[in-house]
Amino acid sequence: MSALDRVDALRREGEAAIVAARDTDALEDLRIRYLGRKAELPLLLRSVAELPPEDRGRVGKAANEARRALEAQIEERGGALAAEELQIRLAEDRVDVTLPGDPISPVGRLHLITATRREIEDVFLGLGFTVAEGREIELTYYNFDALNHPPEHPARNRSDTFYVGDDVVLRTHTSPMQVRAMEAQPPPIYINVPGRVYRPDRDPTHTPQFHQVEGLAVDEDITLADLRGTLLTFARAIFGPERQVRLRPTHFPFTEPSVEVDVSCFNCVDGITAGGERCPLCKGTAWLEILGSGMVDPNVFEHVREHGYDPERIQGWAFGMGIERIAMLKHGVPDLRLFYENDVRFLEQFG
Ligand code: PHE
Repeated sequence: MSALDRVDALRREGEAAIVAARDTDALEDLRIRYLGRKAELPLLLRSVAELPPEDRGRVGKAANEARRALEAQIEERGGALAAEELQIRLAEDRVDVTLPGDPISPVGRLHLITATRREIEDVFLGLGFTVAEGREIELTYYNFDALNHPPEHPARNRSDTFYVGDDVVLRTHTSPMQVRAMEAQPPPIYINVPGRVYRPDRDPTHTPQFHQVEGLAVDEDITLADLRGTLLTFARAIFGPERQVRLRPTHFPFTEPSVEVDVSCFNCVDGITAGGERCPLCKGTAWLEILGSGMVDPNVFEHVREHGYDPERIQGWAFGMGIERIAMLKHGVPDLRLFYENDVRFLEQFG
C-alpha cells in the first residue's frame, strides 16, 4: 500500500471510530490512538523526509490534512458528548420537590422531672432568684455540721445516708448549698438550688435517688410573711390561681421556727370530690404537703458570719421541696418508681 493510501485509510478509520465513540472517555482513547505521540499518523508525518522526493509533497499535505481533520472532528464530537453527559448528570441529580418528603422523625421530649424542675425554676427566676447548683458528693460538714445537726443526729446514721468516706457523703438534701452559697457571696442572697439527692430508701414513695429544689432568701428584713407570700405565688403558678397555702409548725435542725407548707387540694372541695367521694389525692384532708422550710437558724449564720452574715443584722428563710412530689401531685402520678423505669408509655404522656 502506498503511503498516500495508508494516510487515507487511517483518516477514514479514525473518522468512523470518532463518530462511533460513546462517551468522552472513549473519545480520549481515540485521540491517543490516532494523534498521540506514538500513533501511526504523526509518526508518518515526522518521517515524510525519508520518502522519495516526488512523494513528499503529496503525502505530507494529505497527512497534515488528515491530522487536522481528525483533530477538528474530535473537538466537535467531544463538545457534543460533554453536553450530553452534562444533561444526563443533571437529570439524574434532579430533586423532585413534588415528591412526598421523608416522614418527620419523632421529636423527643423532656423527662417529666426535668420539665417540672424548669417550671419551678421559672417561677423563682420571675421572683428575682438565681439558680445555683451544688455538688452531689458532699462533705459531712456542709451536709450536717454547718446545718446545725448535732453529732448524734440520727440522719447521720449509715442506714440513713450513703457514705463515700468518713466525712464524705452523697448529699441527702440540697440544703448544704445554703452554706456554700453564703460562703461564696455576701447578703442579700436569693437563690434556687435544684439537684439530685440520695437516701437509702426504696418503696412506692421513696427511691434512693431523687430530686429537690432548695430556696434561700437572706436579706435585712426577711420574715416568715415573705416566705408565705413567695410560696403562695409559687403554689398558684404551679397548681392553679385558686390555691391557698398553710404553714404548720415542725422541726428541722437548721431552721427556727420550722414549718411544713401545705397547698390547698385542687382535686376537691373540703376533701370531697365533685362525685361526692372522699378525695383520693388529699385523703379527704383538703391539704397537700409540698415542702419543708423555716427561718434560717442563727447557728447556721454563725458558720458564715465572717462572710458578712451577722445574725443580728440579717435574717432569712429556706425551703426544700421534692421535685418528684410536685410532679406526682400535679400530674396524678401514682408511683414514684415510674419516673425511673423509663417506659415510653409513661414518658410520652408528658411534655
Ligand atoms: N432539707 C430538708 C429536707 O430535705 C428540707 C428543708 C430545706 C427544710 C430548707 C428547711 C429548710 O427535708
